[in-house]
Amino acid sequence: MTSDASTQLRARRSCLAVPGSSQKFIDKARTLNSDQIFLDLEDACAPLAKPGARKTIVAALNEGGWGDKIRVVRVNDWTTEWTYRDVTEVVEGAGANLDAIMLPKVQTPEQIVALDLLLTQIEKSLGYEVGKIGIEAQIENALGLINVDKIATASPRVETIIFGPADFMASINMKSLVVGEQPPGYDVGDAYHHILMSILMAARAHDKQAIDGPFLQIRDVDAFTRVAGRSAALGYDGKWVLHPGQIDAANETFSPLQSDYDHAENILDAYEYFTSEAGGKKGSAMIGDEMIDEASRKMALVISGKGRAAGMERTDKWTPPEA
Ligand code: GLV
Ligand code: MG
Repeated sequence: MTSDASTQLRARRSCLAVPGSSQKFIDKARTLNSDQIFLDLEDACAPLAKPGARKTIVAALNEGGWGDKIRVVRVNDWTTEWTYRDVTEVVEGAGANLDAIMLPKVQTPEQIVALDLLLTQIEKSLGYEVGKIGIEAQIENALGLINVDKIATASPRVETIIFGPADFMASINMKSLVVGEQPPGYDVGDAYHHILMSILMAARAHDKQAIDGPFLQIRDVDAFTRVAGRSAALGYDGKWVLHPGQIDAANETFSPLQSDYDHAENILDAYEYFTSEAGGKKGSAMIGDEMIDEASRKMALVISGKGRAAGMERTDKWTPPEA
């Protein structure tokens, strides 16, 4: 059964990728207003730089200065020789100052279970509450997509399911090099629709957040906004950002419009009133020219949840009719 939990998770409208090997980018990231940062040990970190980057990341997390950003580290995937050391070094060194581990190229639920077991051992040995560290699962190939539902439920630690378009495009042999844009020659629809929707369905079925991946043309903020607008329209909770210039656009695109937020809060108030004794115990009622019922309340909860998570405030308040 689904609940409203996904809308109660902390906002992840903008998830900033930061190479774990770059002190300069790490210092800059602290000053930016993304909802999340993830310090990367995977593809933005050269193989020879990975051991040093683990230490840089541990120091950066423990040093603090991240405000209320969600702090995540992306480790290498389980097919490499690096994953277990990434996890043990980072969580043993900075588990107290870390919210989640991002696991890339997840293909099977067992890969999530393996990470869950390792995290549980580290948490127990350090005296942390078991389950403290969340998991973010990146779906980046066909097998991962086929298993996405099982991946979403493989551990209660899973908080987000993330579309990794670059690796995904490569893994299915898509004839394009421009991440996020339609492949040339396919002019009859959105080539990513099935992938985006499958991830979103798994996320919504199991109260996880659905996150869209990177857009690589970092100087083209209009194009970023256009592409982000598509996944936001479907219901995604946020998107990766690779450059400070993309952050405001992501925060705005994945927040409700102020007028929609106000309207959603008003629907919730009105519905609560009309279903109460004082409001006449009605199953449906009118707010202005609009009829609302239980389904309207559910839709309003989604928008209000996103708005509240984004720290929005009401600019308009519905009041009950005079008795
Ligand atoms: C992100 O990891 C991607 O492959 O797009
Ligand atoms: Mg990738």
